[in-house]
Amino acid sequence: MAGVPTPELAAAVSNAGALGSIGVGATNPSGARAMIEGVRARTERPFNVNLFVHAPAPRDSAREAAWLGALAPLFRSFDVEPLTALRTIYKSLVEDDDMLATMIKLAPPVVSFHFGLPSADAIAAFKSAGCVLLATATNLAEAQAVKEAGIDAVVAQGWEAGGHRGMFDPDAPDDQLGTMALTRLLALRSGLPVIAAGGIMDGHGIRAALDLGAVAAQLGTAFIACLESSADQAYRDALAGPNAHHTVMTHAVSGRPARCLRNRFTEWGEQTRLPSPGYPMAYDAGKALNAAAKATGESGFGAQWAGQGAPLARAMPAAELISLISAECEAHSSRH
Ligand SMILES: Cc1cc2nc3c(=O)[nH]c(=O)nc-3n(C[C@H](O)[C@H](O)[C@H](O)COP(=O)(O)O)c2cc1C
Repeated sequence: MAGVPTPELAAAVSNAGALGSIGVGATNPSGARAMIEGVRARTERPFNVNLFVHAPAPRDSAREAAWLGALAPLFRSFDVEPLTALRTIYKSLVEDDDMLATMIKLAPPVVSFHFGLPSADAIAAFKSAGCVLLATATNLAEAQAVKEAGIDAVVAQGWEAGGHRGMFDPDAPDDQLGTMALTRLLALRSGLPVIAAGGIMDGHGIRAALDLGAVAAQLGTAFIACLESSADQAYRDALAGPNAHHTVMTHAVSGRPARCLRNRFTEWGEQTRLPSPGYPMAYDAGKALNAAAKATGESGFGAQWAGQGAPLARAMPAAELISLISAECEAHSSRH
């Protein structure tokens, strides 16, 4: 997960017996190195590093201008001059040789890919470095591409999932498969071990995923409220309040579809209906708008990623959460 997980959170999860994860899709090679070293300083157990592998979105100056024009009144409402240009604030792994070299050198035990797949050469280099490889799929065709690329296991990300939807092409038609149908489909047809993701908040959800043929489950939203996460107080309050019952898939915040707690920004996205300038250009504007809003005490423009299970989030240290989850798994399995 990019943004919320810290080295402290990932290490606490790994130390508690699960596989902790950090996302480095929103940082550069030196930031990624610092995060990985931060995890290694806190645990000797395996952990996962997640990379964004999107096909870079083409720049479209007309779309960008229209987007900035529509956001301008919001910037002004926070007494800030509107942005006049958008930047590509994050690079995809496919165009970032420095990031690839850093990753191969640091060789995290597990590496996962989101939004697509790296080149065959990059995959071979990760494998030679000894990394176990995972990649997200949101449908069978993506899972088949994951299998053909020689990846070790597929993450079946359902429509319920919080954060960015891992679809390879954000403009392609989306069947919006839920975690249950997708997990079963990929368990039977992908030829790969399946890790179920989306809406799983506790041991009961994990058991259900295992019953569907998954070998493991990936939980994101369940960890946002953990003490070691970097979620700010407004995000934690939103997760603990009535808005947790209302998540929406929106491209307004970052330029790619992502599930977020309903807030002023997602509402703006629903009303605007403008074509997005794409990822991560829209995110540049979104981050600037959030900073301007936060400076006035308005927290409704944050990237408050969360899945449909958000109301079930539990605020506690990660080690306690893992031990509760594993007790739930065991209690559930002893009933069978
Ligand atoms: C705050 C947050 C950040 C996320 N960041 C990433 C990320 O950087 N890379 C990634 O592959 N998935 C990311 N995800 C998605 C998760 O990998 C996973 O698919 C999702 O959390 C599963 O659904 P759940 O949130 O309902 O548990 C993120 C999810 C959340 C909630």
